[in-house]
Amino acid sequence: MAGYPENRLHRLRKTAGIRDLVRETKLSVKNLIFPIFITYGENIKTEIKSMPGNYQISLDNLPGEIREITSWGIPGVLLFGLPRKKDETGSYASSSTGLVQEAVRIAKDTNPDILVITDLCLCGYISHGHCGILDGENVDNDKTLDTYREIALSQASAGSDIIAPSGMMDGQVGTIRKALDTNGYTDTAVMGYSAKFASSFYGPFRDASDSSPSFGDRKSYQIDPANWRMAMREIQADVDEGADIIMIKPSLAYLDVINRARASYNHPIAAYNVSGEFSMVKAGIAAGIVDAQTIILEILTSIKRAGADIIISYHAKEAARWLTEG
Ligand code: PBG
Repeated sequence: MAGYPENRLHRLRKTAGIRDLVRETKLSVKNLIFPIFITYGENIKTEIKSMPGNYQISLDNLPGEIREITSWGIPGVLLFGLPRKKDETGSYASSSTGLVQEAVRIAKDTNPDILVITDLCLCGYISHGHCGILDGENVDNDKTLDTYREIALSQASAGSDIIAPSGMMDGQVGTIRKALDTNGYTDTAVMGYSAKFASSFYGPFRDASDSSPSFGDRKSYQIDPANWRMAMREIQADVDEGADIIMIKPSLAYLDVINRARASYNHPIAAYNVSGEFSMVKAGIAAGIVDAQTIILEILTSIKRAGADIIISYHAKEAARWLTEG
C-alpha cells in the first residue's frame, strides 16, 4: 500500500477547501517590510522610473506614506536617505538632523507602533559611492567601522528599532552592538545584512538611491554569487557578533542560501527581495507575460517557504492588498 494506484495525491488538491487545509506555507502581511526612500526638499513624490509604484518622497510626505502602510497592516518600514550633499567621508549619514534620523521621528510620531528599521551604509552619502571610507581605491574596513559606529548611534538616538548595516564591512555588527550597548541602547536591535552578494539585481536601487560607485565595483566587500559556504561564514560572523536578525540578499537567486541558513540557525531570518527582482517582475507584467497577483504572491511565498520569516519587498503594498482583500 505504498504507491499508485492506492496513493493519489490529487485527493489533497481537489477543492479549494482541502488545498487551504493542507497548505504548508502561509504568507501573511505581517511578514512584510516596505522600503522607503527619503529625499530632501518639500512636497516631493517622484516615481523611480525603473521601479514603478515606488517613490522618492520628502519628509513632509512621510506621514501620509506611513498611514497608508499601516492601513494595509504592514508592520514596518526600512528607511533609506538621499542627502542633498555628499562628501568624502559620508559625514551627513550620522547627522542628528539627517533625513533618515528625522524620518524615524516622523514615522514614530505618525504611528508609535510602526517598526522602523534604518539601513546603515555610506554609499548614498559618500562622493565616490562605495560603502566605506577609501584608502586609495580600496575600502579601509576599520576606518569605516568608526563612521558606522557614529551612524548607528545617531539612528538609535532618533528612535530606530532596528539598525541594519548593509555595507558588508568585517566586524560591522559587533562594532555597532558594542557602541549601542555602551551608550545605553541595549534594546535597539541589529539586523545584519549578513549574506549580501555582489549582485546585478541591485541595479534599479542604485538609481533609486543615487548610490552607484563612481569607479570599480563592490566585489572586494560583497560575497561572490558562486559562494554559499562563504555566505554561511558571513552569517556565523554576524551571529557571533550579536546580530538579532540575519539577512540574505538578494532572495530569488539565493533561495538555497536562505534554506541552508534556516537549517543551521535559530535566529529570525530576513530576505531582501531586491530592486532588480522587483523591476523584472514589473517589466514582465507590463509586457503581458505574467499575471501580477499570482506571480507576486508565488514569489513571496517561495521566499517564505525557503525559510525567511521577514521579507523586505517593494511588492509589500500590493501584496498586502491581495492578502487582506483575499
Ligand atoms: C547599500 C544597499 C544596496 C541595497 C540595499 N542597501 C545596494 C548595494 O549594495 O549596491 C540594495 C537594495 C535593492 O537592490 O533593492 N549598501
